[in-house]
Amino acid sequence: MYKITTIGGDGIGPEVMEGALTVLESLDINFDFIEAEAGKKCLEKNGKTIPEETIKSAKKSDATLFGAITTVSNEKSPIIALRKNLDVYGNLRPVKSFEGISCLYPNLDFYIVRENTEGLYSEIEYCSEDERTAVSHRVITKKSSEKIIDFTFKQAIENKREKVTCVHKANVLKKTDGLFKEIFYKVAKKYPNIKTEDYYVDAMAMYLVQRPEDFDYIVTTNLFGDILSDEAAGLVGGLGLAPSGNIGDKYGLFEPVHGSAPDIAGRNISNPIAMILSSGMMLDFLNEKYYANQIRIAIENVLKKRKIATPDLGGTNKTIELANAVVDELKKL
Ligand code: NAI
Ligand code: MG
Repeated sequence: MYKITTIGGDGIGPEVMEGALTVLESLDINFDFIEAEAGKKCLEKNGKTIPEETIKSAKKSDATLFGAITTVSNEKSPIIALRKNLDVYGNLRPVKSFEGISCLYPNLDFYIVRENTEGLYSEIEYCSEDERTAVSHRVITKKSSEKIIDFTFKQAIENKREKVTCVHKANVLKKTDGLFKEIFYKVAKKYPNIKTEDYYVDAMAMYLVQRPEDFDYIVTTNLFGDILSDEAAGLVGGLGLAPSGNIGDKYGLFEPVHGSAPDIAGRNISNPIAMILSSGMMLDFLNEKYYANQIRIAIENVLKKRKIATPDLGGTNKTIELANAVVDELKKL
């Protein structure tokens, strides 16, 4: 029996969560799902965007599933709080094309690994007294950089990939990204069979559009990873298909790359595939590799057939209909 904390959140978060839980419940695995709150609705109800009980529940669980939240200005981000509290330093974001989905690149299969606990998202910001200057700290530590880079090389080896690419801006951010780049090549020495290279983030933004098939694993700092992974999602059919895992030494937190999509929320037309793929990554983390693969195969089959599709994929189906199509496909495997 796996204890799983589920945080639906705001907007389309609860819709896509329902889709993922429908798929998980159809598997021959016992789950105890514990619902917890975070986000804008939670703030209105409890006075906090993330109550202590939610963090406690996540810490007591085998893994956590997170839908999406709507950001509230002047409040700290609950997902960043959760990532930091659980010390899930590795944000693994697969970039994969699917047959049947029209996109810029039909044959992509690579990963972006984003450092998740520091960098420009350290949330250390202040204004000068006259409010004419605002400053944000970009914290890069040797310890976190070593951990994320080592994590990436280990993932590359486990997944039988050839190369790890480090992305930074060390020509301008000489101290912070200078350190990140230096640590990259130091850690790389432990993995002589993996090829290495590094690029400046601005050039990388272009290479991702020009020749994304050249990459296996990309490792980078927090903000660059956030931006490049949305760009990469755009190469393979959009945010509705982009999952992610936040992985640390102890905890795992799995969520789609997308946000609460207020433009389509409440109509039950959001695409649940990113959330279902994220729950597949959770099964990998729980070492339920067989079922994780079954989920991925079922999704590939559903997308290939093009019979059931939400509007973002060019169809007219509802969120739950697409999730049910995955369940039906799983039964056939
Ligand atoms: P978003 O990811 O919510 O939406 C961007 C675009 O993609 C929208 O056109 C939306 O309709 C579409 N989209 C996203 N997910 C989809 C899905 N599953 N199916 C179909 N279409 C989908 O980003 P946006 O609009 O910039 O932010 C909305 C809110 O979400 C903001 O409050 C933002 O701060 C928050 N946000 C939260 C995140 C999280 O909870 N981890 C991550 C990113 C944004
Ligand atoms: Mg983002």
